[in-house]
Amino acid sequence: MEYGNKVIDESKQGQAVTLKKNPKGSKKVYIESYGCQMNFSDSEIVASILQKEGYNTTTDINEADLIFVNTCSIREKAEQTVRKRLNNFHQIKKNNPNAKIGVLGCMAERMKQQLLEEEKLVDMVVGPDAYRDLPNLVKEVETGQKAVNVILSKEETYADISPVRLGGNGVTAFISIMRGCDNMCTFCVVPFTRGRERSRNPETIVQEAQELFDKGYREVTLLGQNVDSYLWYGGGLKKNYENLTEEEKAQSVNFAQLLEKVAQVSPDLRVRFSTSHPKDMTDEVLETMAKYENICKYIHLPLQSGNNRILEMMNRGYTKEWYKNRIDAIRRIMPDCAISTDIIAGFCSETYEEHLDTIDVMNYVKYEYAYMFKYSERPNTLAQRKFKDDVPEDEKTKRLTEIINLQQQHSLERNKAAVGKTFKVLVEGVSKRSAEHLFGRNSQNAVIVFPKKDFKPGDYVNVKVNDCTSATLLGEAV
Ligand code: SAH
Ligand code: SF4
Ligand code: F3S
Repeated sequence: MEYGNKVIDESKQGQAVTLKKNPKGSKKVYIESYGCQMNFSDSEIVASILQKEGYNTTTDINEADLIFVNTCSIREKAEQTVRKRLNNFHQIKKNNPNAKIGVLGCMAERMKQQLLEEEKLVDMVVGPDAYRDLPNLVKEVETGQKAVNVILSKEETYADISPVRLGGNGVTAFISIMRGCDNMCTFCVVPFTRGRERSRNPETIVQEAQELFDKGYREVTLLGQNVDSYLWYGGGLKKNYENLTEEEKAQSVNFAQLLEKVAQVSPDLRVRFSTSHPKDMTDEVLETMAKYENICKYIHLPLQSGNNRILEMMNRGYTKEWYKNRIDAIRRIMPDCAISTDIIAGFCSETYEEHLDTIDVMNYVKYEYAYMFKYSERPNTLAQRKFKDDVPEDEKTKRLTEIINLQQQHSLERNKAAVGKTFKVLVEGVSKRSAEHLFGRNSQNAVIVFPKKDFKPGDYVNVKVNDCTSATLLGEAV
């Protein structure tokens, strides 16, 4: 699991997706996406912008006029994957010599001109805030020039662009509610690749949720790097509530209020969100979650480390005690809420004893699920400039292995505790292993597989769990 907090299935990384035929056009774009849900959601905006220019999407790279790779910079490995992929394009160019190649997303932002210079085949480099400029950039490359736009914006939220849903199941969809991040965690490239934090107009978010529901979708996931700091006040650039004028306060919408508005679209529309930040997650959000059955009882609350000195060096803005207090609040307000996390092993100067504090918090929470990583130093981040990446690789591996093994125990324990219980499952599709089985999720985000009978994707089915593995629950409709 190497791709970040936002639960993009490993099997979907790099997969190209297609949309319905656009009769107007004959030109074709092939889009491969890497990284977090936000990037996958951005690819849907890119597809929408290009559709207006007469492009169909294709999953056949050899027939594409445009080949786009939407990239991730979060860890070195993520960038290496894309570099390898770009190298494969030499072969593809042999079959499809006229195709233009574009690098989009976070690597485009981080590496800018360097990509055009080093990767001779790349024609276009487009950062995450520049997708509206794609029609112009495409025209530029069509004349044989190279094109770059990596300007970051303080306003862009693509609020008015109705994303083309790519490769989806017609049941669940992402909605970006904000962009960028102002947090400056010292290990993280996101503030550099995605720019300043800004919130999207809530009316356009609710409208998008409504449109999805009307088309038959039954679940939306609201996306942001730190959804708890969502704040609309007539404008979107990050401000704290205390700094708003009276007029701005009067029209302001915070995350709890936004959640409520989206939950009210329909009791049959499930609402999820990612990512929560421990320093900003309020009881108001938790109480709103508890109030609406259709707001899923699942919180992704990245810990990163359980040690106060390391948390301080990471600039996370909370302590171990504060984090545990937030866990207690979740348990108090929603006893049935599942919790997952992100953990980084072997951050700069971390000692083995400090690593044990992370283990300690894991034992306190017993997460349902975790995304676990070795610290990967990223160029130009604060950590790279200020600290030494001095935990030896084999020590990082050892600590990560301990974390992964413990998490596996906890996941299995959690799943075993679900056996015998009945859950309301939203069916997402046919099980990968058997055409006679469907799979879906319960409110707590656990995947449940059960015999198909007459059910279909988009149905809500009550399923009694009778068996489990550490990854999946198995059950029967009741
Ligand atoms: N906004 C989210 C995180 C987005 S990045 C939050 O604040 O929690 C997703 C995850 O990748 C992070 O939670 C972190 O665990 C991991 N990550 C980010 N930078 C990393 C780095 N340099 N090395 C290893 N893991 C990293
Ligand atoms: Fe990165 Fe921290 Fe922002 Fe998350 S909150 S995206 S880890 S800077
Ligand atoms: Fe997402 Fe990777 Fe960028 S995790 S925000 S695509 S660096």
